[in-house]
Amino acid sequence: MKHILEIKDLQDLARRRVPKMFYDYADSGSWSQSTYRANEEDFNKIKLRQRVAINMAERSLQTTMLGEKVTMPVAVAPTGLTGMQHGDGEMLAAKACEEFGVPFTLSTMSICSIEDVASVTTKPFWFQLYVMKDREFVGNLIDRAKAAGCSALVLTLDLQVLAQRHQDVKNGLSAPPKLGLWNLMDMARRPRWCYSMVKTRRHDFRNIIGHVKGVDDMSSLAEWTANQFDPTLCWDDVKWIKERFDGPLILKGILDVEDAKIAVKTGADAIIVSNHGGRQLDGAPSSIEALPAIVEAVGDKIEVHFDGGIRSGQDVFKALCLGAKSTYIGRPMLYGLGAMGQQGVTLALEIIAKELDMTLALCGERGVANLGRSNLYHG
Ligand code: GLV
Repeated sequence: MKHILEIKDLQDLARRRVPKMFYDYADSGSWSQSTYRANEEDFNKIKLRQRVAINMAERSLQTTMLGEKVTMPVAVAPTGLTGMQHGDGEMLAAKACEEFGVPFTLSTMSICSIEDVASVTTKPFWFQLYVMKDREFVGNLIDRAKAAGCSALVLTLDLQVLAQRHQDVKNGLSAPPKLGLWNLMDMARRPRWCYSMVKTRRHDFRNIIGHVKGVDDMSSLAEWTANQFDPTLCWDDVKWIKERFDGPLILKGILDVEDAKIAVKTGADAIIVSNHGGRQLDGAPSSIEALPAIVEAVGDKIEVHFDGGIRSGQDVFKALCLGAKSTYIGRPMLYGLGAMGQQGVTLALEIIAKELDMTLALCGERGVANLGRSNLYHG
């Protein structure tokens, strides 16, 4: 096999190994995809300040997220349908994260359930919550996350309505997926993926199926989910969710200074500056463009985390320089998983850690805690 040296190598492999409808689901943004592209492009515009002749012998990437020790300031972001990139995908990714010492966040829209992931891990993982109209279901999900020992709840606020991703429509990716001849033939061309899928019985949204009255097969599930994202979600809901979980709460999808200030008032423990990987409001700024003003407004009151466009350790470094306490990777994890299962997720984490460590060294730093604008070329 050719060398795998950067996230792009895992992405190329995943593109070959994962059926097009699922690869595209992970790898596209909404509408014109301008925000999706800006997330990566804006990182490339930021230049680093090289320093020399500083003792670089002892370096460490260790830090904390919400008081939890992490081996580097990178958590795995919640991503929908992870178990369709590779059979049992969420369980494998969670195991890779546990071994590496970084948080894994399980999405509400995952294939493996909260209980499935808990059954293969020994340390707490994090759970991401979507607020559905069926509040009884939402309450039960929170209780299930608590019972499984999840040590933080990540509440996503930017998906009250689902933005259109053209590629999913073209590919027939809906629930249930439209498995036309083309899609079936495309799947048959990916033997590794097929093998990983026949080895598992986990093929539908297991956080939902069997947990909602009347939803016990793919078509009832499709009908239920299509109507369930709750457009009435507002800040008052955050309060009851916080009370019900009664543990660290992270609010994801903050892109605006005013929203960040309100988030602080709700008593959240952290916010994630995020535009949902460019999958929701196309035309919104890249996450890295939005970060500095939010840090300036609330960075001394709450942990500000960052998500969107990270494809390398250099990107992690840049986000930390602009004030993020920590970062998340979504697609790099999915590429690793689609390329090589658990081993691929580990490789993605290793690649990012190695790049971050080298960047620290070449910028004259030995740790991640004190990075700032002075580490950037234009300050
Ligand atoms: C859901 O989480 C999505 O972005 O597709």
